[in-house]
Amino acid sequence: MYRVAARGRKRPVAAVQNERLVPFRVRLAHYTRSMRRMLSALFALALAPQAVADCDDIDGIAPRYDVVFERDIQPLLGGTATPGVTPYCETCHVLSSSGGMNVAPANIRLAWLGEDEAGQASLNFPPWKRILPGRPGDSLVYRRIHCDDAPPGRMPPGSPGGAMDPAFLQLQALLHDWIALGAIMAATDRRFIGDFESLR
Ligand code: HEC
Repeated sequence: MYRVAARGRKRPVAAVQNERLVPFRVRLAHYTRSMRRMLSALFALALAPQAVADCDDIDGIAPRYDVVFERDIQPLLGGTATPGVTPYCETCHVLSSSGGMNVAPANIRLAWLGEDEAGQASLNFPPWKRILPGRPGDSLVYRRIHCDDAPPGRMPPGSPGGAMDPAFLQLQALLHDWIALGAIMAATDRRFIGDFESLR
């Protein structure tokens, strides 16, 4: 139902009637409200990918300032997470050295930190370091179990991620805090790094 307006533009009759019936300030309020809704939807879209899409969420686990690698992390690599949900690292990184990385207690310091303890380079994905002391997000070991985007995808293969497996999320949080604290191992010469406040 259209009628031709004076200057030849087509306008729906209903809209013309509406304009007369609905006072201007009400229409303005409608307009502002829908603009606001549209903007907040756009914001949500812009923020969502970084917040949830790629990485597990460890914010709900209290930070630990006292992680002892040999006590808190090493045993979990042999028995990581819920059996049948997340496969143990040991299956592929001790019994065989997948990716050239063996995480048995006798090898792990060299495999992760390297000779100079500045971080062992990845075999297949240099310049990534397996562990970069002080920088969890740039450490391949942490990044590959925590996020989808590290090359060439999430580890262990077929992992459902921390959302499906709380024990695996705990390991991620422990690894994060240990690396942020400087990735100290028993035989490490380095004893201290600063910046304890900005752990996460
Ligand atoms: C079912 C076997 C399997 C399991 C279990 C597994 N991995 Fe792997 N992982 C591999 C294979 C195969 C590679 C080499 C290919 C690749 O990089 O994807 C690899 C590579 C890696 C690398 C890259 C090493 C480098 O130098 O590039 C990291 C880091 C890693 N795994 C961490 C882990 C951690 C941590 C766990 C335990 C939470 C784990 N993996 C469990 C099979 C496994």
